[in-house]
Amino acid sequence: MPSFENQRFFIKTFGCQMNVADTERMASLLADQGMAAAEDPNQAQVIIINGCSVREKAVHKALSALGEFQFLKKEGAGPIIGVGGCVGQLDKDKLFKNAPYLDFVFGTDTLDNLPEMVHRVRNGERHFVHADFDKSLDYSTETKVFGFKAQAFVNIMKGCDKYCTYCIVPYTRGKEKSRTIDEVVSDVARLVATGVREITLLGQNVNSFGKGNPNVRGRVPSELHNIIGKVGPRAGEENFPQLLRAIDQDPRCADLQRIRFTSSHPLDFSDELIECYAPASQGGVARLATHLHLPVQSGSNAVLQKMGRHHQIENYIAQMDRLRELSPDVGLSTDLIVGFPTETDADFQKTIELLDRVQFDNIYAFAYSPRPGTRAAKMKDDVPAKVKNERLVHLLNYQIKIAEKTYASRIGKVLEVLVEGEAKNDKLMRSQPEAQKNSGGKVWTGRTSCNRVVNFFSDSPRSLIGKMVPIRITKATGLSLQGEVELESLAAERVANRFLS
Ligand code: SAM
Ligand code: SF4
Ligand code: F3S
Repeated sequence: MPSFENQRFFIKTFGCQMNVADTERMASLLADQGMAAAEDPNQAQVIIINGCSVREKAVHKALSALGEFQFLKKEGAGPIIGVGGCVGQLDKDKLFKNAPYLDFVFGTDTLDNLPEMVHRVRNGERHFVHADFDKSLDYSTETKVFGFKAQAFVNIMKGCDKYCTYCIVPYTRGKEKSRTIDEVVSDVARLVATGVREITLLGQNVNSFGKGNPNVRGRVPSELHNIIGKVGPRAGEENFPQLLRAIDQDPRCADLQRIRFTSSHPLDFSDELIECYAPASQGGVARLATHLHLPVQSGSNAVLQKMGRHHQIENYIAQMDRLRELSPDVGLSTDLIVGFPTETDADFQKTIELLDRVQFDNIYAFAYSPRPGTRAAKMKDDVPAKVKNERLVHLLNYQIKIAEKTYASRIGKVLEVLVEGEAKNDKLMRSQPEAQKNSGGKVWTGRTSCNRVVNFFSDSPRSLIGKMVPIRITKATGLSLQGEVELESLAAERVANRFLS
């Protein structure tokens, strides 16, 4: 393939972490060909839109970005433009109809061929679609990160077999299949050797990881159970708790600080996975972050049933209670949909009650959006848009009040923060000019193990990105915490040594 030296690419990403990870992969593949990232689409010779189809609004966003990029095309010249991700996978050649200036479309399983597709366009081909699902039964890959990062997303599986009635993802990401444990552990070890200190294991439903992969090494547990009973057809196959333990115990991963994962489904959320959250002295996974994102979608069993979720709210609450017993400080987050067909005020009230009962740190709430081709799209979308919106606003406001209380309970504590970068907005600085003066003015941002955002001042002349820093929490809002570097506390000494070295 001829080189792409001196060429620049710009990728616009929409959607979930899976798309974010895919964008990083695409960027890395193009960089391997000699291309550089452009900050601005005006400077790019290749523009890619990595689109999301989960709600109608998300699709509109991708299409309107595409519409804007058309103005960069000038009479046969201008950048090469491609659409990929879930929008490319689903809409394929339909996209050319409204956007004839679009050069090519690709899908979620074909992004590894991106350099080749760009090359085809450079050779004069246009309007082609490369979006077939990979029909092989195995899933094998190597994570690609773009530039130095202390954190990395690691895809451990793809696809989803759950077919919740409202959801388009099984149609955009295909059938579930998992990498092997050995492959993932080696991949993580390689990332750790490059300086990665936190990994997020990615899949639409990571608790069903391992389905179809024989447990050839005889790892335990060999079967999974949850409070409902046996989970999935898993006897004799690899599973997610085995993967967590394998990463945690591998000497090559010794410098890894935290293991996160997302997303999970309550039906496959096994007792064995909950046990991983126990203190290491009681058999838990030492580096598993004390955070869980477990989407519940609704507090009403009637709605859950129509959503095809196959779990009941009582089971979900029992899972959360057991988790808190083992890990009292665990941070919990969830996804919720309001205005699903037939949802009454009483159903919605049950969702509010669930917030009171579980005390989430954070929620991601959405108004139901019918997705063509799903089972729910055949139901009458009978909750008016105005009501959906009112419920959404009420839910978010209600949650902020809960989070304000839980976040405030952290004030005075010293928490370990993995620094992600400099804080983008300087509200904190403006509100505390004295601290700014003392610190030299730099505000850093990072996350605690329980996934709370912490902003703090530091006068360190070096970059703190990727460092684990002990922070004494001084202020809290419903969205983030603020604090000061704490070097005195004995409890923080271990971390402080690492911070200063
Ligand atoms: N696999 C994950 C799960 O099971 O939760 C993530 C699914 S999806 C990428 C992220 C969230 O989008 C879902 O949890 C759900 O709350 C929301 N969502 C999915 N389809 C939707 C729809 N048709 N309308 C509104 N929200 C939707
Ligand atoms: Fe969608 Fe349900 Fe699969 Fe999550 S588990 S991706 S909500 S079908
Ligand atoms: Fe969207 Fe696809 Fe993720 S539909 S939410 S980008 S899996």
